[in-house]
Amino acid sequence: MGKLNGKVAIVTGASRGIGKAVAIGFAREGARVVIAARSVTPPKSGLPGTIIETADEIKAFGGKALPIKTNVLVEEEVLAMVQTVLDEWGRVDILVNNAAVAAPGPFVETTTKLWNLVLGVNVLGTFLGTKAVLPTMMKQRSGSIINTTSVAGASRLRELTGIAYGTAKAAIEHFTCAAAAELGEYNIAVNCYRPAQGVASEGWVFNLPADYDKSQLVGPEKMVKAAIFLAQQDAKGVSGCVASDEELIQWHGLAD
Ligand SMILES: NC(=O)c1ccc[n+]([C@@H]2O[C@H](COP(=O)([O-])OP(=O)(O)OC[C@H]3O[C@@H](n4cnc5c(N)ncnc54)[C@H](OP(=O)(O)O)[C@@H]3O)[C@@H](O)[C@H]2O)c1
Repeated sequence: MGKLNGKVAIVTGASRGIGKAVAIGFAREGARVVIAARSVTPPKSGLPGTIIETADEIKAFGGKALPIKTNVLVEEEVLAMVQTVLDEWGRVDILVNNAAVAAPGPFVETTTKLWNLVLGVNVLGTFLGTKAVLPTMMKQRSGSIINTTSVAGASRLRELTGIAYGTAKAAIEHFTCAAAAELGEYNIAVNCYRPAQGVASEGWVFNLPADYDKSQLVGPEKMVKAAIFLAQQDAKGVSGCVASDEELIQWHGLAD
């Protein structure tokens, strides 16, 4: 019996990286999973991964997956994605706001366009995704919203991720606690997690400087374990929590 049997989950940014691993992990636990990101065909940048490939990997082991092309910056697309999920599966239990971009480089080289893109995908994307699932979760009187932060939200990684990214992640942490405070009365949990150690996702590795020591990077397994735990919460469980994957695993005895 899977931990997420009967649940419907949306994972944004699931065409590659941590989002893809979380989507697969949810499906292995019995959830029906919506794969929401922009890439339907391999992007010109050379980054691997599409929503179709993630969905196909899930279907290959008998899981249920629905790829829906979604740009989290565009409210109409986010609303249409959620409507498609409701038409297909009738409910939404879990939303993982995982989609992100960073803009590495010094502050003085951060253009307004890059600032708006990074704040947009991270913060506006988290706001729009959450807003779009709320009417359904409020009606259901249950739900789990999982936001994604980074050590950059509270520390100075400077040029490695860029000033816009850390600012965006700090905003997501505030958003999480503020939303948890308001949504408890509807029995909706809102939490925020981050990798304790850098994860060798396709996007992160692509962005790293050539001389960066990649030997410290890890796989997404701890993020997947933490996400499965958070996905099982409602407001009567854990809510308003901002923690790393390793902290969640230690605090809640998830180490196996
Ligand atoms: N990797 C790490 O070490 C690390 C550390 C700290 C925090 N994090 C956080 O963990 C999460 C996942 O990171 P990752 O390293 O796995 O990233 P990644 O490999 O770069 O993947 C990012 C995902 O976001 C999607 N995305 C980007 N812009 C989008 C948009 N406008 N609309 C919809 N989807 C969009 C991408 O899909 P498309 O291009 O197909 O749209 C892709 O699936 C992020 O929130 C990141 O900030 C990661």
